[in-house]
Amino acid sequence: MKVLIVGSGGREHAIAYTIAKSPRVDKIYCAPGNGGIAELAECVPIGAMEFDRLAEFAKERQIDLTIVGMDDPLVGGIVDVFEAAGLRVFGPRKNAAILEGSKAFSKDLMKKYNIPTAAYENFTDPEAALAYLETADFPIVLKADGLALGKGVLICNTLEEAREGVKTIMLDKQFGNAGNCMVIEEFMTGREVSVLSFVDGKTIKTMTSAQDHKRALDGDKGLNTGGMGTFSPSPFYTKEVDEFCRKYIYQPTVDAMAAEGREFKGIIFFGLMLTEKGPKVLEYNARFGDPEAQVVLPRMKNDMIEVVEACIDGRLDAIDLQFEDNAAVCVVLASEGYPVSYEKGFKIKGLEKFKDAEGYYCFHAGTKLTEDGRLVTNGGRVLGVTAKGANLKEARANAYRATEWVEFANKYMRHDIGKAIDEA
Ligand code: AMP
Ligand code: GLY
Repeated sequence: MKVLIVGSGGREHAIAYTIAKSPRVDKIYCAPGNGGIAELAECVPIGAMEFDRLAEFAKERQIDLTIVGMDDPLVGGIVDVFEAAGLRVFGPRKNAAILEGSKAFSKDLMKKYNIPTAAYENFTDPEAALAYLETADFPIVLKADGLALGKGVLICNTLEEAREGVKTIMLDKQFGNAGNCMVIEEFMTGREVSVLSFVDGKTIKTMTSAQDHKRALDGDKGLNTGGMGTFSPSPFYTKEVDEFCRKYIYQPTVDAMAAEGREFKGIIFFGLMLTEKGPKVLEYNARFGDPEAQVVLPRMKNDMIEVVEACIDGRLDAIDLQFEDNAAVCVVLASEGYPVSYEKGFKIKGLEKFKDAEGYYCFHAGTKLTEDGRLVTNGGRVLGVTAKGANLKEARANAYRATEWVEFANKYMRHDIGKAIDEA
């Protein structure tokens, strides 16, 4: 079959790598793709938000299945456009992708269906938000309602900071229309875990757990980024935690969406906080995590195409989803200065070492091939160097060894990805 992937990051490279292993896949296209994906797929220069052009392309090339990796097109309704054109597509429709697209929606859903999450209030009026803050406890968390590249969350330690935050989100509109509405929620403490799942509208099957490192600097300092590295599984995600989440979070979320007439088919990514009072939902995403996909997908034993098709056809209950009994670590190689300002266009060397190295992967996030065929840096997050190992310690040592294979002029990485596992 012919498959089209929509997106251009490390996550989409991991998806391309995973489906390329399926005996059912003859040809992969990726729009717009990147320099690494180009080794597995034909990259098509159509933007992820150009739904009509993408659907036209899919018709013309007789694409059998389209997998949407990114949040923006899902929230914008790409699945509805593809379905209306009679095309087979994997991902939630617009009325279900709102689970990620509106934090106010997801908070109200959790409240209505008793799904554990931080206490909160939604605001569309900045004056009302400011008045609420006067009597609030600190720290407190402000969240722009809409998509904001993972940057629309402000943790405020004082009333002054929170007032400034309301200005940033609602008045200065630093995150654009994402800030027309804002959630103010209780600050929670605990370990964070990401759990990704396949959903067919009724049935949910969770994947192995992972943990992201969102801050730019070692020791979880510095600015929030798209993610500087991940490890899987999380040793903090115990059997007890899993049992609790199955009962009170995962299936209840799928059932709640169905009850609201917003049947969810695709990936639900549960961002969880393991608090003293039990696991609570930090956020939902309607797609694979990036860079969570880079450590989860290489450990999946199933043919991903079979799982995706079962989701689309509503027969996920018949799938036995299985993961390898090992571990994986992904260290992001970024451009120095990310996430603020950085240079790009530097030549990347050393990637040939990954070709014959079993259990090592170099997923491309921000790279491109120049016209004369050289691979150069083309973004803040450049590569996701990933390695498997028998356990987390071994995977971490392997991943950091592999980071030394790669060279580019302004290479930057965190040195403590997965270090928390030493405390487990
Ligand atoms: P989100 O995009 O909602 O996942 O938020 C981004 C990050 O902000 C999370 O990964 C957490 O580290 C932090 N965060 C979000 N909400 C809270 C909260 N209620 N309490 C503490 N930290 C939070
Ligand atoms: N790694 C976090 C995310 O994909 O949203």
